[in-house]
Amino acid sequence: MNRRRFIQLAGAGAGLTAFAPFIVAGPKTDRGSSMTDPFHSGRKFVVAHRGASAYAPENTLPAYELAIKQGADYVEQDLQITRDGVLVCAHDAVLSRVTNVEQVFPDRFTEEVVKGRKVKKWYIHKFTVKELKQLDAGSHLGSQFKGVTIPTWQEAIDTIRGKAGLCPETKSPEVYGKLGFDMEEMVMTLLKKNGLDQPQPSNQSTPMYMQSFSKTSLLKLRNKYHVKWPTLWLFAVNTKWTPAMLHEAKESFDSIGPNKKDVTASLVKQAHEIGLKVFPYTFISGEEKPFKDVRTEMSHYLYDLGVDGMFTNNPDQFPRSAG
Ligand code: G3P
Ligand code: CA
Repeated sequence: MNRRRFIQLAGAGAGLTAFAPFIVAGPKTDRGSSMTDPFHSGRKFVVAHRGASAYAPENTLPAYELAIKQGADYVEQDLQITRDGVLVCAHDAVLSRVTNVEQVFPDRFTEEVVKGRKVKKWYIHKFTVKELKQLDAGSHLGSQFKGVTIPTWQEAIDTIRGKAGLCPETKSPEVYGKLGFDMEEMVMTLLKKNGLDQPQPSNQSTPMYMQSFSKTSLLKLRNKYHVKWPTLWLFAVNTKWTPAMLHEAKESFDSIGPNKKDVTASLVKQAHEIGLKVFPYTFISGEEKPFKDVRTEMSHYLYDLGVDGMFTNNPDQFPRSAG
């Protein structure tokens, strides 16, 4: 039996009928396997959280490139929208934490009252992409990254395509909706332009894994745009998990993304019993206590608690096997 046929059968044998046609062999990469759809491969898989963000500035091209070198199965991009309607990669809706916006555009803030105090906020949606490109999004992590800029999502796709999967997160889609942007439509339009809107033989080396905290956003991707890529419904920390919630997730989606603090062996078992994968966030070197290091922490979640994979800032530390 040739390898392509073997992998197709292995996927189907694992109860993966919905996506089995897309589980095909691809070019050998440093991802440790020739399978090109990590979600359906039956093995544990890793998403580089904001790229390899323990070592390079989060949500920038250097972080994405390093994540690929470190063998990430998927590279995450948090998505925001500029004033002129361009999807860009940034975790926060505001710019101050990771850029020098306050020096470059000192007057372009929005003043808000938070807990009785006036605060200044530099929102991404108030800036054009050309203006964002004037900002330094690298120096916050170290002077060696000076001049690194916020990438557009198109630039991220160009950087990652063919080398790893992408894991875009629609951030605050309801907020952008009120500003007149249809984030899901923008995501799907760009994916279509890149030939990545649906799994097909021509894009098997660039699988997608679609995520959001917003059920509405994921449902729109599923029901309006009929996205067949795997979906991940994220949940905030301290979620009180119930069987009803798991069934609600299973009705529409393929996996749940709890905060790691909320993961138990029982939650994983119940999710697996109804066919949901469990994919917690976020594993970060320096935040691994009581474990001795982040690799040991990830190993515990993967091989003791049974999760299917995880978001980590340290994809190089992802333990591909137990022990
Ligand atoms: O998207 C998974 C994880 O990244 C969620 O947390 O806040 O880093 O986007 P956050
Ligand atoms: Ca995220």
